[in-house]
Amino acid sequence: MRRAIIAGTGSYVPEYRMTNDDLAKIVETSDEWIASRTGITERRISTGENTSDLAYEAARRTLQIANIDATEIDLIICATITPDSFMPSVACIVQERLGAKQAAAFDLTAACSGLIYGMACASSFIETGMFQNILVIGAETLSKTLDWTDRSTCVLFGDGAGAVVLSASDSCNGISAIHLLSDGSKQDYLCLPALPLINPMIQEIENQPQVITMKGQEVFKFAVRSIAVHINTVLEKAKVSEEDIKYIVTHQANCRIIEQASKSTKIPIEKFYMNLDRFGNTSAASIGIALDEMVQRGLLTSGDKLILVGFGGGMTSGAILVEWK
Ligand code: UT7
Repeated sequence: MRRAIIAGTGSYVPEYRMTNDDLAKIVETSDEWIASRTGITERRISTGENTSDLAYEAARRTLQIANIDATEIDLIICATITPDSFMPSVACIVQERLGAKQAAAFDLTAACSGLIYGMACASSFIETGMFQNILVIGAETLSKTLDWTDRSTCVLFGDGAGAVVLSASDSCNGISAIHLLSDGSKQDYLCLPALPLINPMIQEIENQPQVITMKGQEVFKFAVRSIAVHINTVLEKAKVSEEDIKYIVTHQANCRIIEQASKSTKIPIEKFYMNLDRFGNTSAASIGIALDEMVQRGLLTSGDKLILVGFGGGMTSGAILVEWK
């Protein structure tokens, strides 16, 4: 059976580390509050690089690791809620910079579930035989969308990019189960407005600031529920038991969300990989950054089964069960 395998991973984060103490100089907060409520101790913040810069560097490293030439890439999907521009897409900018001359390219909006949605699309394109090699990037400069006077949001997020290249394989490993869900009735849980509606036909202009707003506790509960539902569903779909899973890599939002999910699924916390302490919540980038770090640390060997789980604004959520190549 033709399946999509993960042929390589890569990531890139801006150099500048903003600590909790640095944030305490900007808003009324403390290292104690942030670390105990979220598990975050520092995050990377752009000092000039935009989303396409982070995406390009993560993509370049991914192709190098996968030993695939840019001209062999058939499609580039960039998941982001913080593009440089609505058009051109980040994916098209990256395509040009990589020299991926044969590739189609588009951006995808599924907030913090973006990498999972992108990998699900890529896997389907590969299984149908339409494409051979697909680069999926999650990249964000969330720092440009934050209200830096709002301590309830600005302490949570960071900038960065993570990527995977999916390739067609006739082996039976690779992606074996995918589950995606959305719930638009919870659209007000996490919001980031785009351009206001202004035209000659409109008398009253409603100007919303273009910053992230959030119903934190609602998002928290949604996240814990979603992780459990998605893990159980992909295990069922792939006919695999929880004991066979080596690692679960969820969207890196808050260690308390992950600890609650571990309790409610009765899956040992040691199986949940976490690196949010050093990067904060990087939305669509977080799962790719974590996965690449695991590869660099030599944690994954051929045959290991992993579950990747995303949840975020929309609300969106999804999971992928993959066997390491
Ligand atoms: O990708 C998905 C993105 N979003 C998320 O993952 C968010 C999920 N939600 C959460 O992680 C948590 O709800 C938060 C970390 C955002 C907040 O934690 P919480 O335990 O739900 O705190 P809270 O909102 O109930 O606030 C408790 C107190 C409040 O003060 P009062 O009303 O009790 O006096 C807040 O004003 O903490 C205050 N507070 C802060 N204090 C110091 C809120 N933010 C801060 C802060 N520093 N940064």
